[in-house]
Amino acid sequence: MAGRFPQAWLDELRERADIVSVVSRYVQLNMKGGRYWGLCPFHGEKTASFSVNPQRQMYYCFGCHAGGSAINFVMEMERVEFRDAVRLLAEQVHMDLPEMVAGPDDAMSRTQKERLYEANKQCARFFHAQLWKKESSLVLSYLYNRGLDDSVIRTFGLGSTPQRSDGATVALREMGFTDDELVMAGISVRRDGRVYDMFRQRAIFPIIDAQGRVLGFGGRALGDAKPKYLNTGDTPVFNKRQGVFAANLLKKQRNLKRVILVEGYMDVIALTQAGVPGVCATLGTALTLEQARLLKRYAPEIWVSYDGDAAGQNAILRALDIFDEEGIRSRVLDFPGGMDPDEYIRAYGPQSIDELEPMDATSYRMKQEMGRHDMSSQEGRTAYAIACSKYLTKVREPVELENYIQKLMISTGFAREVLIAQIGRTEMIAENRRSVYSHAARPLEEHTDGVDVETAAAEKKLLQLLAEGRVEAGTVSPDDFITPQRRALAQKLLAGMTPGAILEGIEDEQERARIARVLQKDSGALDEQQLRMTGDCLRVLHKKRIEEKIAALTREAAGLKGEEKRSVLLKIQELTKERQTAGRKE
Ligand code: CTP
Ligand code: MN
Repeated sequence: MAGRFPQAWLDELRERADIVSVVSRYVQLNMKGGRYWGLCPFHGEKTASFSVNPQRQMYYCFGCHAGGSAINFVMEMERVEFRDAVRLLAEQVHMDLPEMVAGPDDAMSRTQKERLYEANKQCARFFHAQLWKKESSLVLSYLYNRGLDDSVIRTFGLGSTPQRSDGATVALREMGFTDDELVMAGISVRRDGRVYDMFRQRAIFPIIDAQGRVLGFGGRALGDAKPKYLNTGDTPVFNKRQGVFAANLLKKQRNLKRVILVEGYMDVIALTQAGVPGVCATLGTALTLEQARLLKRYAPEIWVSYDGDAAGQNAILRALDIFDEEGIRSRVLDFPGGMDPDEYIRAYGPQSIDELEPMDATSYRMKQEMGRHDMSSQEGRTAYAIACSKYLTKVREPVELENYIQKLMISTGFAREVLIAQIGRTEMIAENRRSVYSHAARPLEEHTDGVDVETAAAEKKLLQLLAEGRVEAGTVSPDDFITPQRRALAQKLLAGMTPGAILEGIEDEQERARIARVLQKDSGALDEQQLRMTGDCLRVLHKKRIEEKIAALTREAAGLKGEEKRSVLLKIQELTKERQTAGRKE
């Protein structure tokens, strides 16, 4: 189905699918103080910090800052895309799906993509059926030799390529797929005018997304043939930087405490066979932001478990930075002796996994940092202490910080006070430089968007009054706002959009959380105070705009001479007077 939902139809859906009844299907809600409260379904908690505001048609969690509309909520709970969430909601409120209207869609139409998904699915079935045939005995025994049993082979839908060099191509052609489709899906390749199978003499690992669609394949050579793994290249339905291997299984495992991220197909399979839930892998590339965001949906924490070699260790540090940037809690599960998880399980047995203790991200960074310094010299220990205090500025909990400081005292010999001073100072420096860490440590710190605190506060308060729907028509206009982002929000609120609907349009989760935090707040104004509060905010902003003009003119005046300069100075003088009255209350 190509195109998009018509706007009017979506608006009606938003009206009918009331957020309280939508959320109530999943979370038990209790009314308190104008909102509904319940246990947050997105992070484990014992006291309710998840709120639903029927007037604003939005939810917001004070614990994990998740926020959005009814549609966002269904997307998160059912782990589906926007379209599917809309379809589910339409069904719930008995609305017929509309004729889709034309709109900017991906270069390739929906139907064309559906064909490629279907080709991939049929191809995966073909490879899997092929595995049990006599001619595939080499592949099957390869998998058995790697310790896999029939049950895990079925769980992952592993397969084998056929003997014929165009076996899959021919089979899929018979099902009605064109050569162009097969080549586009990466199943087949064209050479000298003929079409052959892409994968030859390999064990096949289908890559399946959370919706159960087959995106592509990984193929493992049986011996030392190169490349060891051959993967489907980028196609209209597959981008290895966006998906993860075993996303389909992740989705089925509800209430995971953590996701374990490993490097290889075989690691995922070995851990799963050993009974470890929630394991997935990137597809032969370094972790990307998109993948981190995808994984965040499945568990409150991610454990990284890469190979023990130097490349693996560096990849872990990069992954930890990405998780920080996305505000995701992470730990490192280190396998001893530089083994990968698959080798470890085969050496020590499936139970051995339970004995491994994951290390928190800060301890891991400190441990890696130690390897970079000569700890036998004073100079080395000093450099180590400085490096570590940078990591420690991010630790929010005082008790946790204390533990690290204790360790650092022992390894460096510095006194507690000295280390605390060092940590405090680097924190200040980090803030000015907006380093990755300071940014990551406080993902939801009040942003001022480049304006002073007073302006930001006035704009936020005005937005809250608008979100509450308590500003009289004509009192506030978007032009009263100085920062473009908040001006745009005001425009939408004034146009009658609910805060929920506004949040829905924000794809970046971090950004959505930040704006949800502003839009969920009560202004705290009683009815009779409301008008005065609005006036106060407008005056602050009016004054700020005059100050901006004065500053601009002052800069201009510096480069002028004579009559021109005099006229600019005169303007500045007038504005200064205007500013004085603007600050005063009528
Ligand atoms: N990989 C790849 N192409 C390669 C090598 C590796 O795409 N030529 C990807 C695969 O997803 C692989 C992962 O990187 O699973 C990890 O690679 P590596 O550690 O070399 O492989 P293992 O998973 O240990 O593979 P095996 O145990 O089968 O040797
Ligand atoms: Mn391996």
